[in-house]
Amino acid sequence: MAYFYDEPSHTFSEYLLIPGYSSSECIPANVNLETPVVKFKKGKEPAIKMNIPLVSAIMQAVSDDTMAIALAREGGISFIYGSQSIDSEAAMVSRVKNYKAGFVVSDSNVRPDQTLQDILDLKEKTGHSTVAVTDDGGPNGRLLGVVTGRDYRISRMSPDLKVSEFMTPFEKLIYAGKDTTLKEANNIIWDHKLNSLPLVDEDGRLAYFVFRKDYHSHKENRLELLDASKRYIVGAGINTRDYAERIPALVEAGADVLCIDSSEGFSEWQKLTLAWAREHYGDQVKIGAGNVVDREGFLFLAEAGADFVKVGIGGGSICITREQKGIGRGQATALIEVAKARDEYYERTGIYIPVCSDGGIVYDYHVTLALAMGADFIMLGRYFSRFDESPTRRVNINGTYMKEYWGEGSNRARNWQRYDMGGDNKLSFEEGVDSYVPYAGSLKDNVGLTLSKVRHTMCNCGAMTIPELQQKAKITLVSATSIVEGGAHDVVLKDSATPGIK
Ligand code: IMP
Repeated sequence: MAYFYDEPSHTFSEYLLIPGYSSSECIPANVNLETPVVKFKKGKEPAIKMNIPLVSAIMQAVSDDTMAIALAREGGISFIYGSQSIDSEAAMVSRVKNYKAGFVVSDSNVRPDQTLQDILDLKEKTGHSTVAVTDDGGPNGRLLGVVTGRDYRISRMSPDLKVSEFMTPFEKLIYAGKDTTLKEANNIIWDHKLNSLPLVDEDGRLAYFVFRKDYHSHKENRLELLDASKRYIVGAGINTRDYAERIPALVEAGADVLCIDSSEGFSEWQKLTLAWAREHYGDQVKIGAGNVVDREGFLFLAEAGADFVKVGIGGGSICITREQKGIGRGQATALIEVAKARDEYYERTGIYIPVCSDGGIVYDYHVTLALAMGADFIMLGRYFSRFDESPTRRVNINGTYMKEYWGEGSNRARNWQRYDMGGDNKLSFEEGVDSYVPYAGSLKDNVGLTLSKVRHTMCNCGAMTIPELQQKAKITLVSATSIVEGGAHDVVLKDSATPGIK
């Protein structure tokens, strides 16, 4: 006979946190949101940690290299979508790894025989006023001089004047070697009162500019997530079909952590994928697996060697899996059970396997609830898709700006590998929709606001770290009537634009 659960499964909106004692030291500025990403042994440090507990979903409409750089800058990780060719996914990973914060490849370059008019045209096109003069007019040619607004006066000079006649020549420039660190470059800029510093290689070829104006923005990102070589940390999605080709390409490109992208992870396909990775890379490659929604699924993936386990079926905003197939579980209930299994596993083996709650975050406080319920970090799709940095188009619909957002199981993405059951290599039916979400601006501003709320709530619970929150949190189910009471009620709102995650 089938197994029947006694209790219905619940989702985040059905829970609230009950405040605990907060000391005067327990203030948002003192909250540390550091969290482990991959498994570790008791008493040891995890090989990868994040500074904030947010990762962006493995989706075409969410995680490309631009998103990955923006999120790593704030302290989280993007998982670059795997529903693209191996080459293009690896190229995205390598663009993130080669990105050097604060080091700009010059986009405004001329040859010395070009004219003042060419400089003016270039300025009009790029909006940038620092122009490199190189022997070939390219960004990495031999640096012969630099032109800025201080080198010419339009009213007094002919537009036909050759650049070589008014540029600041190389001999008079202050420059530094290509391997100068950002800190050293900034010190030189400061000491010499410069606006920009060219960095050149041993043959005098231009490598980068470091700009004074970027100094402050770099210093602002105190939580940015860097590897040992000071490159941004990035994740990438894999599937259970082409892993023998995709994993080596992603590892070669520099991916720090991989994740099997699958709608349902309690399967032999995942075990085979993890076994292949372990056989070829041992512990060198870090791989998360999922998704599961119960204890059994967690234990299966833990034994199969997953570095973290992802939880969630059917709760994603664009997901129609529950309607189409009738599988899934309320996200809160699934997470609570899996986190408990993780804790028992840790107790028994001394190995801590981080749990990622994936999908279904609607309000900022859902992030805090998920952490309190035992998640080490949260994967979000819709949330990130609304920002400038997501790869999708921003469109104006009836006067409101929207961004496109579509599921990996929609006809648009056709990510059949995510739903693969060893069939005929195609998506038999849709499990996701194609949609719009309200445009919300920059990732930095939104993540800042969300995490500010998380920090405040943690302080209300008397917790200054995520593990402390997980220990101290008091969580209650709420009745349907009290859910109504939770929003503004019995008043007429003057401005319906209430700020928040939605
Ligand atoms: P969201 O944050 O609620 O938008 O959920 C994002 C999550 O939904 C992703 O991380 C995936 O786990 C899941 N997902 C992505 N595409 C689909 C789909 O087409 N159908 C069902 N779930 C999906």
